[in-house]
Amino acid sequence: MSERTGPVIELRDVHVVHKARTGSLFRPDRVHAVAGVDFEVARGETVGIVGESGSGKSTLARVMVGLQRPTSGEVLFRGRPLRGGARARRELGRAVSVVFQDPATALNPRMVVREQLLDPLRVHGIGDDRSRQARVRELIQLVGLPLSALDVLPRQISGGQRQRVAIARALTLEPDVVVADEPTSALDVSVRAQVLNLLTDLKDELGLGLVFISHDINTVRYVSDRVAVMNGGKVVETGPVEQVLRTPSDPYTQTLLAATPSLL
Ligand SMILES: Nc1ncnc2c1ncn2[C@@H]1O[C@H](COP(=O)(O)OP(=O)(O)OP(=O)(O)O)[C@@H](O)[C@H]1O
Ligand SMILES: [Mg+2]
Repeated sequence: MSERTGPVIELRDVHVVHKARTGSLFRPDRVHAVAGVDFEVARGETVGIVGESGSGKSTLARVMVGLQRPTSGEVLFRGRPLRGGARARRELGRAVSVVFQDPATALNPRMVVREQLLDPLRVHGIGDDRSRQARVRELIQLVGLPLSALDVLPRQISGGQRQRVAIARALTLEPDVVVADEPTSALDVSVRAQVLNLLTDLKDELGLGLVFISHDINTVRYVSDRVAVMNGGKVVETGPVEQVLRTPSDPYTQTLLAATPSLL
């Protein structure tokens, strides 16, 4: 864990153009999913990204965690441009982790929880068997699950518990930043607040940077220090969350605010 205070990840004028799956004569075969975005996140802060479906939030998240190469623009990791180098990508993979919407897809259905948590430690060659086992026990307790949860398969636990396991997995390598892409949207309403509180508690406890992505502006407001509002691949408004939401200057932000009853 580093103590430096600058941004861990910085995006400068990032564009991502997807080749659409549905290209045909009458439909555009390219989607400009991210269209010139500047963004940064440091340890200790929560930055919310809000915007409706298709606005480019997940594509942006994938760029941040190194799963998607930008079509143009620059990604800086700890102040240095991230180029093709395998070593820098590996380091990025360690420093920035991701929690997806659906824990079922993030976890291997045939592997017991213990193995899923050991896996990143083995891949990155961290510790020996003994210290890895100790780390895994620590992680499962950190996310509020009993040690017995280590010996079950993902389908043997509830959706909320699975998301806790996915969060534990995201924390395995002691990241600087966790990118959480709609981490509660697939969960039963009754457990959403618990998982959300777990994430924010861990962020405080571990001094993490958290990028929290949601289509629900009230959830974003509840957890974030800063917020970026996305529409059509662009960040249309950004700033401290209370300022942006109290006095939104962009008409799209005003529409979002007017339209949302909160379910968390
Ligand atoms: N791999 C892909 N190939 C082609 N098009 C894609 C791909 N991924 C995303 N898109 C398109 O890019 C645009 C942005 O998608 P993205 O998933 O980033 O939006 P989002 O804001 O996360 O939406 P949601 O709230 O539904 O998750 C959409 O038009 C989507 O159809
Ligand atoms: Mg998405």
